[in-house]
Amino acid sequence: MPLKHETALNTLIWIKIAPETGVLTTLPSAPLQKIPKSQNVVFISQRSRKNPAHSKGDTMNISRNFLLIGVIYLLIGLILGMYMGAKGDYSLSLLHAHANLLGFALTAIFALVYKLFPLMSDSAMGRLHFWLHSIGTLGVIVMIFLLESERIDHAQMAPVAPISELFVVLGAAVFGWNIFKNAN
Ligand code: HEM
Ligand code: HEM
Repeated sequence: MPLKHETALNTLIWIKIAPETGVLTTLPSAPLQKIPKSQNVVFISQRSRKNPAHSKGDTMNISRNFLLIGVIYLLIGLILGMYMGAKGDYSLSLLHAHANLLGFALTAIFALVYKLFPLMSDSAMGRLHFWLHSIGTLGVIVMIFLLESERIDHAQMAPVAPISELFVVLGAAVFGWNIFKNAN
């Protein structure tokens, strides 16, 4: 029977150490939350490519997906920076700043946090946050591009820009709640 707490990235395993003999025993079937955190029970996290959930495709690797999306924004941001520097035209600097910071720096931090706390990426809140942030960020970046390249004016940013911003903010709120519940 597969472990309840398997995640896209990690298989979580509890190991009991008998203090007298030093013998290690795995506790695979006990629900993770119900195992008492006593001194002789330790928790390890193990990479598993044989996770049955992977083959069913019903979990996602949140850290990796955040990084993959982030690196696309990083490349866009860096190339834009080089372009602006070379041309001496800084009219796209807000786009450059937010591709690098909102698109890459923030997503990279999210990726590290999900990697650090596997229970967070195991939760549906992790997937919800990923989609809210990804869709919201795409909306914000596209709208900044359209504004700074003078394809639209400020008034035409509604409703896409505020909705996208709301997605990013809701994503951050879900992320916060996930930290509160699962980052321990
Ligand atoms: C190839 C690397 C980079 C180049 C050539 C570059 C170039 C530039 C240029 C020309 C500007 C406009 C300056 C101005 O408006 O006076 C700028 C602004 C900015 N860059 Fe970069 N940049 C690079 C990487 C980055 C990275 C990696 C980040 C963040 C992680 C970043 C964050 C910013 C921010 C926040 C601004 C706006 C600053 C402001 O308007 O006060 N840049 N960059
Ligand atoms: C929903 C997401 C976000 C929205 C809608 C947004 C919007 C804005 C706006 C309207 C400005 C002022 C532009 C101006 O003064 O002309 C700004 C500036 C700035 N924001 Fe954001 N922001 C967002 C997220 C972020 C994040 C996550 C970071 C950093 C991690 C960030 C870093 C900055 C910086 C450094 C500036 C100054 C850049 C400059 O003056 O060129 N922003 N942002």
